[in-house]
Amino acid sequence: MGFNVAIDGPAGAGKSTIAKRLAKELGFIYVDTGAMYRGIALHMIRKGIDGHDEKVVSEEVKNADVTIAYEDGVQKVLLNGEDVSGLIRTEEVSVMASTTSAYAPVRQKLLDLQRDLAKNNDVIMDGRDIGTTILPNADVKVYLTASVETRADRRYKEYLEKGEQADLKEIEEDIRLRDHQDMTREISPLKKAEDATEVDSSHMSIDEVVATIKDLCEQKR
Ligand code: DC
Repeated sequence: MGFNVAIDGPAGAGKSTIAKRLAKELGFIYVDTGAMYRGIALHMIRKGIDGHDEKVVSEEVKNADVTIAYEDGVQKVLLNGEDVSGLIRTEEVSVMASTTSAYAPVRQKLLDLQRDLAKNNDVIMDGRDIGTTILPNADVKVYLTASVETRADRRYKEYLEKGEQADLKEIEEDIRLRDHQDMTREISPLKKAEDATEVDSSHMSIDEVVATIKDLCEQKR
């Protein structure tokens, strides 16, 4: 069993930025589980499927083979063998991933992949249900959160930095919708694990959050 760090939290809380930095500093593998759900969501979009049609999504997920690979330590998501890493960071995919990840066959498909990675490696894994469902015995569990306004503003700036157009109000609405869907679904909803440490990053710098979680890891190693 590797040393396992679980970071859960709502969209835009800074999980991936923090987890990537931590993984580099600790020499761990970073596993972005959201990217896997995004891979499946992209498949549904390409097939023109209505994400709210649970039956169709549950059937079609059988044809969406998601795997991951690492290139220079960076996680790539492969959808039926195609590297789709550059295609999954849109608002359309975000909302579809939040909708389709509520269905049991979609979650079941990714469960073993995620657990196997943690079994065989020292990992920092981020997502929504890592501390509660995927790795209930993780060595360190963090619930990383921030206010909706802060999270929307961060996403907005990320898009602008990439030279992409963005609408702050629309991003804020998407985040509220995803929070609601992710927190109220029946299977593995987003919630703080009882033994997780809550970190509110609204008024913290990236360095401060990284240092806080690194401290928690060092106490356990
Ligand atoms: O972390 P993210 O924004 O890339 O995740 C996209 C969606 O995938 C998120 O809204 C809910 C879903 N997800 C999930 O249900 N469980 C996870 N462990 C990770 C993501």
